[in-house]
Amino acid sequence: MLKAKRYTVTAALPYANGPVHIGHLAGCYLPSDIFVRYLRMNGADVAFVSGTDEHGAAINIKAKSENTSPQEIVDRYHKIIGDALQEVGISFDIFSRTSKEIHHQTAQAFFTTLLEKGSLVEKTTEQYYDPEANQFLADRFIIGQCPNCSFPEAYGDQCESCGSTLNSTDLIHPKSRLSGASPELRNTTHWFLPLDHLSPKIKAYIESHKDWKPSVYGQSMSWLDSGDGLQARSMTRDLDWGIPVPVEGAEGKVLYVWFDAPIGYISATKELKGEAWTNYWQDEETKLVHFIGKDNIVFHCIIFPAMLMEHGGYHLADEVPANAFLNLEGEKISTSRNWAVWLHEYLVDFKDQQDVLRYVLTATAPESKDNDFTWKDFQIRNNSELVAILGNFVNRVLVLMNKYYEGALPEAGALSPADQEMLAKLKEAPNEIAASLEKYRFREALNAFMNLARAGNKYLADEEPWKQIKVDPVRTATIMNIAAQVAAQLSQCMEPFMPFTAAKLRGYLGMDKMSWENLSQQELLASGTVLSQGDLLFKKIEDSEIEAQLAKLEASKKANAKPQYEALKAEITFEDFSKVDLRVATIIAAEKIKKANKLLQLRVDLGFEERTIISGIAEHYTPEEIIGKKVSVVVNLAPRKMRGVFSEGMILMAENGATGELAFCATDEHLPNGAVIR
Ligand code: 2FM
Ligand code: ZN
Repeated sequence: MLKAKRYTVTAALPYANGPVHIGHLAGCYLPSDIFVRYLRMNGADVAFVSGTDEHGAAINIKAKSENTSPQEIVDRYHKIIGDALQEVGISFDIFSRTSKEIHHQTAQAFFTTLLEKGSLVEKTTEQYYDPEANQFLADRFIIGQCPNCSFPEAYGDQCESCGSTLNSTDLIHPKSRLSGASPELRNTTHWFLPLDHLSPKIKAYIESHKDWKPSVYGQSMSWLDSGDGLQARSMTRDLDWGIPVPVEGAEGKVLYVWFDAPIGYISATKELKGEAWTNYWQDEETKLVHFIGKDNIVFHCIIFPAMLMEHGGYHLADEVPANAFLNLEGEKISTSRNWAVWLHEYLVDFKDQQDVLRYVLTATAPESKDNDFTWKDFQIRNNSELVAILGNFVNRVLVLMNKYYEGALPEAGALSPADQEMLAKLKEAPNEIAASLEKYRFREALNAFMNLARAGNKYLADEEPWKQIKVDPVRTATIMNIAAQVAAQLSQCMEPFMPFTAAKLRGYLGMDKMSWENLSQQELLASGTVLSQGDLLFKKIEDSEIEAQLAKLEASKKANAKPQYEALKAEITFEDFSKVDLRVATIIAAEKIKKANKLLQLRVDLGFEERTIISGIAEHYTPEEIIGKKVSVVVNLAPRKMRGVFSEGMILMAENGATGELAFCATDEHLPNGAVIR
C-alpha cells in the first residue's frame, strides 16, 4: 500500500504548436490522472503538475508556416490544449506555461548555478548558418535530400520518409527553410553538459531502478552503453525564440528547449505551492513520478536527472512509467499527415462521452508495447462492455430497487454462500485494483474493476430477484441489498478511471466520494438509503457514428497523401539521353483491348505518320476522354508485340506514388505533332 509522505506527479509538457490527440492522452495524461485520482482518494499529499512547452524551433516553424508570431501560436495552443485536457477530466493541480516569468527566472537561475559550479563546458563547433537570414539554423530549419532514401525534403535531424535519424551535415543539397539559401558552416559557441563525464553517476542511478518498466530501464541502459557511451550535449541554441542564456555576450542564444522544459515541472510547482515547493522537489521522502511517452525517456531518465545531480539539492525521479505509442487504424499517428483523432474534435463529436474515451484508451493503453486504436474497437468496447456489462448491471439494480422498494434500500437477511462470495469479491476488488495501480498497470486495474461489474451481473442472473420477488420477499431484499452494495463499490472504484460517470452514479446512490481504504472495510450503503433510478450511464454508439469517423480519416488520408519518391537512377551522359527520340503527338483513336483490363490500344498522329501504341492506362482513362489529347511519345523504342498487336512507341505518363494516379506528361497544346522534345 501507499507509503510515501508526499507525491510529485508530472505529466509531459505538451508542445504548444498543435492540439493534443488520443496518442498523447493514452501516453501520459490519462495514466497520470488515474494515478493521481487514486492517490487523492487515499488522502495523499500530491502535486500534479503540467503545462505547455512553449519554446523550441518547432514553435518558430509553425509560426512561420502560418505567417504569424510564435507568441500567437503558443497562446492559441495553450488554450486549446488546456481546455481539452480539462474537459476530458485530467485533474492537474496546475497547468502552467513555460513562457511565464517565474519559469524564465527558474530556468535561468538553474543554468547560472550549473555554470557557477563549473558543470557546463563552453565549446565552439561548426553549425549551419543562413547567410541571407543572418542566423544559425536549428536542425529543423534545414531541409535536404535524405542520404538513405533520396527523399528530397528530409529535415536536419530526421527523414520523415524513411524514418532515419540524421545530422544536418548528412543532408545532400541542404537548404535553409527560412530563406531557401544554401547554408554555410560557421563557428558558434555553446554550453555543453558533459554527460560523458557524468556517465558513471547516471549509470549508478539507473541501475538502482531495476524495478522500472523493462522498456524504460532497457532504453536508458542502451543509451548509456551505446557505441561511445554518452556524449556531451549542448544546453543552448542559436535561436531568437526561447529563454535567453543568462550570460553576458550571449545575445541571440537561448536555452535548449529540453533544458528548460523539465525545469517547467519545478516552476509550475513553485507557482502552485509558493515557498513550500521545496517539499515537493528537495525532500527525500517525496516520491517523484514522471508520466511520459517513450520518446521522452532519455530526457527524463538521463539528461534531466544529470542536470538535477549537477545542480545539487534535488531528489531524483523514483518512477518513470513511460508508455509506448498508440497507433491509429494500423498506422502511426502523424500530426503532419493529420492522421490522428484530435481530442478537441472528439469532445465535439462525442459530447458528454469523455468517459468512453477514457475507458477505451485505458483498456488499450500501450503500456508495454505499441498498440492500435480502431474506431470499431471503440464501438465494441462501448457497446459490449460499458453498455452491456457495467451500465446494464447498474441499471438493473436501480430499476428493480425503484420498482420493488421505491428506491429505499431494504435490509439484508441471512446470507447464502453465493451472497458471501459476492460480498468477498466486493471487498477484494479495491485491493486488487490498488495493487495494479500502484504497479502502474492501468489496464490490469481497469480489468479488475470490470470484473466486479461482471460478477455483479452474474450474481443477479443466478439469484434472479425478479423471480424471487413473487415467492420470497425476504430473500429478494437480501439480493437487492447486496446488488446495491456492488453498485456502490463500482461507483467508488470507478472514480480514477471514469470520474464523470462515477460522480453521476454516486449521485443516484446518494453517496459522497469515500476514502479508498474504507472501501473494503465497511458496508457502503446503509439500509433505508434512497436510490434514484437516474438515466442510463452509457449509451450505444451507432454504426453511423463510427462510419463518420472513418470517413473523416479517409478524407485526411486523401488530402495529405505524400508522394513516394523512388530512389534516383544511376547518372547518364547527355549522349545517353539524346538517344531517346521524344515527339509530340495527338491521340486520334482509342479502344479497349479484350481480356486485358489494363491496356488501351491507341492510334496517334505524329505529323509525319500515324502509329499504333498499346498503353497500360485503361484503369485510369476511358477511351472517349483521351481522344484529342496532346501527348509526349518515345518514338524510337523497338516495336513490341502485345496481345497480337505491334506497339510502335510509348506514351509518357507521370505516376503519383502515393495514390497510384497516372497523368499524361503535358506538352503545350499549340505544338505541332512531330515536334521534337529535348
Ligand atoms: O515531447 C514533447 O511533447 C515535449 N514537449 C515533452 C516535454 S516534457 C518535459 F520535460 F517538459
Ligand atoms: Zn530517408
